[in-house]
Amino acid sequence: QEDIFKKVIAHAKEYGYVVQSSEIYDGLSAVYDYTQNGAELKKNIREYWWKAMVQMHENIVGIDAAIFMHPTTWKASGHVDAFNDPLIDNKDSKKRYRADVLIEDHVAKIEAKIDKEVNKAAKRFGEAFDKEQFLSTNTRVVEYRKKASDILQRMGRSLEAEDLDDVKKLIEELGIVCPVSGSKNWTDVKQFNLMFGTKLGASAETATDLYLRPETAQGIFVNFLNVQKSGRLKIPFGIAQIGKAFRNEIVARQFIFRMREFEQMEMQFFIRPGSQKEWYEKWKETRMKWHLSLGMGEENYRFHDHEKLAHYADAAADIEFKFPFGFKELEGIHSRTDFDLRSHEEYSGKKLQYFDPELNESYVPYVVETSIGLDRMFLAVFSHALQEEELENGSTRTVLRIPAVLAPTKAAVLPLVKKDGLPEIAHKIIADLKWDFNVIYDEKDAVGRRYRRQDAAGTPFCITVDHQTLEDNTVTIRHRDSMEQLRVSIDSLRNHIAAEVDM
Ligand code: GAP
Repeated sequence: QEDIFKKVIAHAKEYGYVVQSSEIYDGLSAVYDYTQNGAELKKNIREYWWKAMVQMHENIVGIDAAIFMHPTTWKASGHVDAFNDPLIDNKDSKKRYRADVLIEDHVAKIEAKIDKEVNKAAKRFGEAFDKEQFLSTNTRVVEYRKKASDILQRMGRSLEAEDLDDVKKLIEELGIVCPVSGSKNWTDVKQFNLMFGTKLGASAETATDLYLRPETAQGIFVNFLNVQKSGRLKIPFGIAQIGKAFRNEIVARQFIFRMREFEQMEMQFFIRPGSQKEWYEKWKETRMKWHLSLGMGEENYRFHDHEKLAHYADAAADIEFKFPFGFKELEGIHSRTDFDLRSHEEYSGKKLQYFDPELNESYVPYVVETSIGLDRMFLAVFSHALQEEELENGSTRTVLRIPAVLAPTKAAVLPLVKKDGLPEIAHKIIADLKWDFNVIYDEKDAVGRRYRRQDAAGTPFCITVDHQTLEDNTVTIRHRDSMEQLRVSIDSLRNHIAAEVDM
C-alpha cells in the first residue's frame, strides 16, 4: 500500500499535477502547488461540484466571501475555544503527534488484519463466500472488530470529556510506539489551537489580530440575511461556496490529504426547525449519488456515522473513500442545528431570523451542511485513476483513468508522421476543437509511445491523422481505457468527444 502511494506522489509530479510548494528551497511541509495538469483537474472538479450543487438546484445560490473575517466571528463559531487537536510528544525522538491519530493508526492496523482474514477466506471459498456472514461469525475476526470499536469508543469518550489523561493512558495501554524512535516514552497530552493568526493594520499598536479562516462556512452564516433578502429566497434554500481554508495541522503527511492551506466546497442548507432529520438524510443520499456518478466504484465508498459529535452538531456522518492508505474521510455532512446563527446573533447583537410566510412566524433557521475538501477529492480521483495494467502481449502500461469529464486534456491530436501535410491537418483539427475542449498537439516519437504518454497523463482520446486522412477526411480516435480505435470523419470528432466529456 505504501508503495502504491509513493507511486501516486511521484506520478503527480512527473506528469504535471502536484509538486511540493517552494521545492527549490527544500519545500514547505503540508503545502503543495498544482502544476499545469493539476490546475486543470482541480478546476474541473470545482466546476463539476458547482454545476451539481448550484446550477442544478433552483433553491441554491453561490457566494464568494473573504478569507479574512472579523475576529469575533471565531469566538461566536466556537473555533477560538474549541478548535483544538490533542497533541503528544515522544520524549526520545522529540517528535510531536496528534494523540487521536496515533490511536486511529493503531486501529487501522487491526482493520488491516481483518482485511487480510477476509481476503484469505474469500480465496478459499470462492463464489460461495459470504462476507457479511464471515465478519459476524468468524471468532478471530469478531474479536478484532470488537477490539477496534472498543478502542475508538474509549478514545471518543475521553476526547468528548476532554479528559486528556485518559487519552494518554489509552496510548500507553495499547503499547503504541513512536514511529520514528520506536520508544514508548510519551509526554502528557495537550490541546493545540489549529487557527493561523495574522495581523491587520500598519503599526504594532493599532493592528488587529486576525485569523485565516479555518472553514468557509462562517462566511455563509454571517451573510445569511444579505443573501436571503437580496435573492428573496424562501426556506428551504442553500448557499454554496468554494474557497481556501487554513489549518495549522500537526500531522503533516499523506500528501494532499491533510494540508495547511486547502480548498473547501461547502453548502449550508437553511431549513425549518424540526425538519433537520429529513434534510440530513436527503443530503447524505444526494451527496453519495454525486460521488457515484463519477463511476469510481461503489465499493470504494462508505458512510461513517459519528457517535462523537462536534459542539455544533446533532447528527454527523462522513463519506469515506478508499484511499491508498485505507478508508478515510472525504466529505462531511453535518446537521448543525441553529448553533451558528444563534451564536452570531448573540455576539453581533443583530437579529438573524427568517419570516416564514406559510407559518406566519419568524425563527432562526436550522442548517444542514455538506462539506468536502477539493484537494481531498483531487487525491481520491487521482489515486483511484492511477493503474498499471498487464497487456495481452505481456507488456505493462501505466494509465491514468481520470473520469473523462474531469480530465485536464480531453484529446491529443497526433500526425502519424511529421510530413506530407499531416501536421497541418492536425493543427486545423485543434484550431476547430479548442473552442469546446482542452486539446493538445504531439508529434514527438513513434505513435505508440505517444499513446502511452497520453495514457499516463490521463488524456481520454488520441486522434491520429494518417495518409488515409488525405483521401477521405477521416482520422482514428483511440480510447484511453479500452485502447480501441475507431475510424471516424473529422466532422464527427466534436460529437464523439462531447458524448463522454460533457458534464
Ligand atoms: N464546515 C465544516 C468543516 O469544515 P471538517 O470536517 O473540518 O468540517 C470538511 O472539514 C472537509 O474539509 C473534510 O471532509 C475534508 O475533505 C476537508 N479538510 C479538512 N481539513 C483538511 C486539511 N487539513 N487538508 C485537506 N482537506 C481538509
